[in-house]
Amino acid sequence: MLRTIENGKLRLEHVGQSVELVGWVAKKRNFGQLVFIDLRDRTGICQLVFDESFSEKTKSIRNEYVLHVKGSVHQRKDANPDLATGEVEVLVTELEIINSAKTTPLIIADETDALEDTRMQYRYLDLRRPIMQKRLMMRHAITRSMRDYLDHQDFIEIETPMLGKSTPEGARDYLVPSRVHPGQFYALPQSPQLYKQLLMISGFERYYQFARCFRDEDLRADRQTDFTQVDIETSFLSEVEIQTMMEEMMVKLMKEVKGIDIQAPFPRLTYEQAMNRFGSDKPDNRFGMELQDITDIFTNSSFKVFQNVIESKGSIKAIVVPDFAQGLSRKKQDAYTNYAKKNGAKGLVILKADEKDLTGSARKFLSDEEVQNLFERLELKANDAVFIVSDTWLKTCTALGALRNQIGSQLGLKKKNEFSFLWVIDFPMFEWSEEEQRYQACHHPFTQPKAEDIPLLDTDLSKVKANAYDIILNGYELGGGSLRIHDNQLQKKIFEILGLSDEEIRNKFGFFIDAFQYGTPPHGGLAFGLDRIAMILSESDSIRDVIAFPKNASASDPMSKAPSNVDPKQLEELHIEITK
Ligand code: AMO
Repeated sequence: MLRTIENGKLRLEHVGQSVELVGWVAKKRNFGQLVFIDLRDRTGICQLVFDESFSEKTKSIRNEYVLHVKGSVHQRKDANPDLATGEVEVLVTELEIINSAKTTPLIIADETDALEDTRMQYRYLDLRRPIMQKRLMMRHAITRSMRDYLDHQDFIEIETPMLGKSTPEGARDYLVPSRVHPGQFYALPQSPQLYKQLLMISGFERYYQFARCFRDEDLRADRQTDFTQVDIETSFLSEVEIQTMMEEMMVKLMKEVKGIDIQAPFPRLTYEQAMNRFGSDKPDNRFGMELQDITDIFTNSSFKVFQNVIESKGSIKAIVVPDFAQGLSRKKQDAYTNYAKKNGAKGLVILKADEKDLTGSARKFLSDEEVQNLFERLELKANDAVFIVSDTWLKTCTALGALRNQIGSQLGLKKKNEFSFLWVIDFPMFEWSEEEQRYQACHHPFTQPKAEDIPLLDTDLSKVKANAYDIILNGYELGGGSLRIHDNQLQKKIFEILGLSDEEIRNKFGFFIDAFQYGTPPHGGLAFGLDRIAMILSESDSIRDVIAFPKNASASDPMSKAPSNVDPKQLEELHIEITK
C-alpha cells in the first residue's frame, strides 16, 4: 500500500500519527531551509514540510510531479482557514519521486484562463482541476441516487443495442456502415425509444437504462452529439403515477446531492399556459416579468401594425421590466429589437413609463385611452419599461419569451443556487413544419393523443393534444416523455397523418408494428438528460463541463482529433468511396 490516508482527509485528530501520502504537486514554495509542497489528490490538498535534509532532493521537484511520502502529522502554527486540511501539515521523513511532469499547458486550478479548445485538447489535465473532479463526482452521485431510487421501485436495468435501426426522435442519425452487408447501414440510437416499448410488450413492466444516445444536430451549451439519457418506461401506470414517481426521484436526488428540500408535487402548466405566461415550453419561473395579453386593448387601434394583427386574429403581448426605463439607451433598444427579430418577431415596441404617460417612438400611434388601459392592465409605475410584440400567437409568445429570458439573465435574476422544477403537460400532438409544409409529431409518432381529441385527427390536427409531458428545471428541458399508443390501428393512423406510406411504415417500423399485435400493455415513460441534470446541479454553464470527454461546438474532439480520415483500406472493406 502506497498510502495510509487521502490528502484531503487529514484533520487535527490525526496529529501525532505517521502517515503515507501520494499525489500530485500543486504548489512548491522555498522558505530558506524549509520547502513546502501542497500535495493534491482527488480528495483535496495537504501541506508537506521538508527540512534541510531534503534540500537537494526537492530541488528537482516541480508542479504535477507525482510523489510518495512518509511523515508525521503536526498541528500548523498558522492555520489556513481556506483549506479543509488547513490546521495540519505533514513533516516528511521519506520522499519518493514516482514520476516527473512537463510544464502543463494549462494551470491545474479551479480558475483557468485557458481557451476551451486547449482545455479539451489536454482534457486529462483539465479533468485534473479540482473543480472538474467535483463536477464529475457530483455526476456520479446523481447516477447513484437515481439508480438507487429506480432499483427500490423494482425497475430493471436492461441494455439495448447501439447498432440498430434508425429511431424517430427527429434529429439526424449517425450511421455506421456494415462490412458484412455492403451498402447497408446501422443507425446509432437517438434514444432507445423503440426497444423500451418492445420491452414493455415483453412484459418487463418497469425498465430503465443509463443510455448513450447519438444525435447529429447543431450543438449548443446544453446539447452534445453523444449524451446520456436516464431512460425509463413503465406499463399499466397513468400519466400522473409516472410523474409522481419521477418527482419522488428528483426530491430524493436534490436532498442527497445538494442537501436541498424540494416540494412535490411540482407545479404543472399546460403547454398553452406555459406559452401564454412565459413564452416558452420550458419556462424559467425563478423570476417574474411574465407575458401579459393586451390584445383586447387594441381592438380599435389606429396603429397599423396592431390593426393587422387584430384582423388576422393574432396576439399582442407585453412584458414589463420594472425600474428599467432610465438606462434604456437607443443602442440598447436596438439590441433588444434585433434580439426579438432573431427570435421570430417582425419588430418590437418599446415604451417607457413615467408617472402617467408613456414615451417611445410608438407612443404617437396610441390613443390616450389605450395608454390609460395599459397603465391599469400592466400596473405600470414610473421608470418601468414595456416591451410589446404583436404577431401570430405562437410567434408573439416565442419572441417575447426569448426576450424575457435574455433580460432575466442580464439582470442576474437566474440564481444558479435556486432550483425550480415544474411539469409542462398537454403538449400539442403535431406541429406545423414551415420548412416541410406538413405536420410533424411534436414529441414522437408513438405518443398517445388525448382520448377526447381523437375525433380531431380527422378534422383539425392543430388542436389535437397529446398525453405528453416535459419536466423542466430552471428553464431547461430536463426530460420528456409520454404515454404511448398501444392500439395498432391508431398507430397506423398517426403514421398516415405524418405522411408515411405503407411501404415506409413497413421499412422503418415493420418489426415494431408487428409486435403490437401480440398483446401490448398500456405503457408510457420518459427520458431525463443526465448531462443536463449534472450541468444544472453543479451550477455549470455548459454540458461540456460535466462530460469527461465531450465534443466542441463544431462536433469534434480536439484531443483525439475525431472525426478524422480513415485508412483507404478500411473504406474499401466497407464498400465506401469518398466522392469529394
Ligand atoms: P427527448 O428527445 O425529449 O425524448 O430527449 C429526452 C431528454 O434527453 C435530453 N437530450 C439531450 N441532452 C444533451 N444533448 C442532446 N443533444 C440532447 N437531446 C435530448 C434532454 C431531453 O429532455 N425517447 C424520448 C423519451 C420518451 O418519450 O420516453 C426522447 O428521447 O434532457
